[in-house]
Amino acid sequence: MAKYRIGIYPGDGIGVDVTAEAVRVLQSASQLDGQFSLDLVDLPWGCKYYQSTGKLVPDDFLEVLRPLDAILLGAVGWPALLPDHVTLSPLVRIRQAFDQYVCLRPARLLPGLGCILSGKSAKDIDILVLRENSEGEYVDQGGFFKRHTADEFALQTALHTQRGIERALRYGFRLAQGRRHRLTMITKSNAQRFAFVLWDEALERIAPEFPDVTYERQHADAAVMNFVRRPESFDVVVASNLFGDILTDLGGLLAGGLGLAPSANLNPERKFPSMFEPVHGSAPDIAGQGIANPAAAILSVAMMLDHLGERSSAERIRRSVERAILAGARTPDLGGKNTTEQVGAAVVASLRDAVKEH
Ligand SMILES: NC(=O)c1ccc[n+]([C@@H]2O[C@H](COP(=O)([O-])OP(=O)(O)OC[C@H]3O[C@@H](n4cnc5c(N)ncnc54)[C@H](O)[C@@H]3O)[C@@H](O)[C@H]2O)c1
Repeated sequence: MAKYRIGIYPGDGIGVDVTAEAVRVLQSASQLDGQFSLDLVDLPWGCKYYQSTGKLVPDDFLEVLRPLDAILLGAVGWPALLPDHVTLSPLVRIRQAFDQYVCLRPARLLPGLGCILSGKSAKDIDILVLRENSEGEYVDQGGFFKRHTADEFALQTALHTQRGIERALRYGFRLAQGRRHRLTMITKSNAQRFAFVLWDEALERIAPEFPDVTYERQHADAAVMNFVRRPESFDVVVASNLFGDILTDLGGLLAGGLGLAPSANLNPERKFPSMFEPVHGSAPDIAGQGIANPAAAILSVAMMLDHLGERSSAERIRRSVERAILAGARTPDLGGKNTTEQVGAAVVASLRDAVKEH
């Protein structure tokens, strides 16, 4: 039987609540499936850890994570304690150090859930965004100059490599081959005349390797409008780090809200652990109230099981989330009155039913 060592890193705010339910579903899936077992490694890092140690993560945190099979993350950030760019820094380091260059963020509206866009329904919203996750605008290169003088300025450099762009695009084309055979690359090459010209050239070079996929380019400003105007025209979307980050909040909203949006930070070569997390943040506005929607975190567990090769369990979790929500297990963000824990329990019950039916 396969055994997986999974790091559980709940982080801050609602990250803690939603991760508890995601772990509950993961453990139930392992027991019910009977094909794999778990060794869960608690990683109690983040703002509480900072208050007792003066650090967000231990100095050797990457070495602690390196031997794991996967990492399940809740969310990080507590702006009342520390600025966001400080709390987010360990995450960016994990993504880059472990070469998690593919960030997959599906936005699929469940049949039966209303869409925020009038006239659109589940058949119109099924977009898979691949955000390049290891370079681009988030490489953290730059600095402040003439700090705290009237001439103060900041320089922030983006880094786009041919190798980085090509591997993201190839991964995106392969995804499109398994879906509706359409790929849209999103840049801003009309205004950023170096980095995104490299993207445009890479697309034209790589597309002929995938003759069964139709492809197009859109500038980020037009893409935002088209996500709203005609979401059904998107299948796989490949975007740079920053544009992918921005577009997937919108994608999450189209697919029912951030409480339903999962993500996977993948190292496709499996040299390093991959990391799975909801798209949402720590939501200080609702933290501690027990009303955060755990579905995004639970669906991130399904993406983790897909990556580990436990596809039937992954699919069962997805169906159980759908069934529980459609049967009325909903937190306030979906118009319901249930707590985080109640939704987690409903998903576990639905998982049990699915196994019995099978
Ligand atoms: N990967 C991450 O850990 C990550 C991502 C985004 C933001 N953040 C951090 O989170 C903090 C808050 O950021 P923000 O407010 O911009 O974004 P957010 O995603 O935390 O919240 C945005 C809005 O969506 C709601 N929301 C989010 N998740 C929800 C859920 N599961 N159920 C119900 N409602 C939910 C929140 O209540 C809030 O109104 C900041 O510190 C930010 O840096 C972290």
